[in-house]
Amino acid sequence: MLQAVAPFEQHIEAMRYSLFAGGKRVRPILCLATGEAVAKSSDTEKNLLPIACALECIHTYSLVHDDLPAMDDDDLRRGKPTNHTLFGEAGAILAGDGLLTWAFDLLSSPDAGTLTPLERLKIIHIIARAAGPQGMVGGQALDIACENTSFPFETLQTIHKNKTGVLITCSVHAGAIGAGASPEQTEKLIAYGNNIGLAFQIVDDLLNATSTTEQLGKAAGSDASRGKATYPAFFGIEKTRIKAQEAVKRAIDALSEFSENADPLRAIAEYIYTRSH
Ligand code: IPE
Ligand code: IPE
Ligand code: MG
Ligand code: MG
Repeated sequence: MLQAVAPFEQHIEAMRYSLFAGGKRVRPILCLATGEAVAKSSDTEKNLLPIACALECIHTYSLVHDDLPAMDDDDLRRGKPTNHTLFGEAGAILAGDGLLTWAFDLLSSPDAGTLTPLERLKIIHIIARAAGPQGMVGGQALDIACENTSFPFETLQTIHKNKTGVLITCSVHAGAIGAGASPEQTEKLIAYGNNIGLAFQIVDDLLNATSTTEQLGKAAGSDASRGKATYPAFFGIEKTRIKAQEAVKRAIDALSEFSENADPLRAIAEYIYTRSH
């Protein structure tokens, strides 16, 4: 019996290792900050917390799988050895599977919060859609298929939107539903999410091209060496910076009708441009 327990504990340890490795927590913070911007009920934060945790589990799983030898083949993530270098490829694949599935356990748990079953179902649906083949996984598939090929800028936009932007937008959208935002508020929050999602991946490309491995906590210069098309490859560094700034401005403009309760969302948009890792 004990022999069966130890491998299970190692599996949990592999999940915890990446989840607590020091990520920036941008997606869960966005979800909670959206709740603050809408601020309709005192239950909002409690209701959004499991959703925020689920978003971080899904994001972390995507990074564990993204770093695998068959994907980007990276050894360093969040300033630490990647999951598969410590737990082996099978261990890392299963840690990712565990994090993804655990996210939907958290989202569907009937005893968490005061959301109605319909609100909960809507949130589960938009997160499943964003994480799956029409969102993040589809973007990752296109990213890998396009390595070392030349393709038009529109394809790069599709890769960025799907592999990164959609989960960021969905973090805001899920927060909006969970906080009881009106349809008009939700539309503006989604516009905000789309623009910071775009800015986020443009800045990721910029940092990959201009920063150091020490600063990033992950391999710098890896996009060029793996033949990934990026914004700097299409536009050069300076024009890319301007495009990221423009997306941040559009995001902040989308919040013009929100009160100072949306200041954390405005600050996150600025942070996405100025971040150093
Ligand atoms: C990195 O995401 C991968 C992308 C989707 C661009 P983050 O920059 O949010 O990574 P962590 O969570 O802080 O490590
Ligand atoms: C990662 O994109 C996107 C997902 C994991 C969904 P990248 O491969 O460009 O990001 P980094 O540079 O490894 O963080
Ligand atoms: Mg990748
Ligand atoms: Mg990668």
